[in-house]
Amino acid sequence: MKALKYLLSIVCSVALFSCTVPVQQEVKNHEGKNAVIETIMTRRSVRKYLPQAVNRDTMQVIVECGINAPNAINRQAWEVRIVDNPKVIKKLTDLYIKDNPKAAEDPNFQNMFRNAPTVAFIANDTTFPFSPVDCGLMAENMILSAWSMGIGSCCLGGPARFMTSNAEASGYLEEMGFSENFELLFCIGFGYPAETPKAKPRNAEKVKFMD
Ligand SMILES: Cc1cc2nc3c(=O)[nH]c(=O)nc-3n(C[C@H](O)[C@H](O)[C@H](O)COP(=O)(O)O)c2cc1C
Repeated sequence: MKALKYLLSIVCSVALFSCTVPVQQEVKNHEGKNAVIETIMTRRSVRKYLPQAVNRDTMQVIVECGINAPNAINRQAWEVRIVDNPKVIKKLTDLYIKDNPKAAEDPNFQNMFRNAPTVAFIANDTTFPFSPVDCGLMAENMILSAWSMGIGSCCLGGPARFMTSNAEASGYLEEMGFSENFELLFCIGFGYPAETPKAKPRNAEKVKFMD
């Protein structure tokens, strides 16, 4: 009888605990602020970096965060190639400058990926309508996890447009070996930041609560 009472009290405590304690708890930083909100609100697109590529172990963590993003029916309708070989980045940049000679006149110009030493090329499944959404969510996970570890980034549509339209550059795209029906959608440049850009204004009026 005593044992039964004891067992019952354990079952009740567990049930009570699981009702009152949320499954997910707030993650605070060392200043007691919400760590994720701080990461989101302090992130800015970075276009000036230290020359060295992002450590590959760190990139691996960033990629893991990316592929854990929500995605439609868990189809994971993305493919990603990470390039941190400066020779490849230079080769592509040389092609870019041939078409856009003015770009190299900027004294801060290092390469066509807004100077990033590590670039993620993100391709989407053109047969799956939600694929661009999946890629965008994955990208934001990568960008925010990177920022939380002190890595800057910039989402880049321009270089992807160039690579898919320039005959020589698209030859390099073929080397990346994306699967059939996958097309380069955008890139993300990553690197150790060498600038702290200010926030650009946002228009909160675009969002309305409905009564
Ligand atoms: C899909 C997409 C494409 C972008 N393409 C470029 C680009 O080609 N070149 C660039 O310098 N920034 C690019 N950006 C970065 C935006 O300019 C930047 O996110 C925006 O101005 C807001 O600034 P913030 O990221 O610092 O808050 C792109 C962003 C997104 C989401």
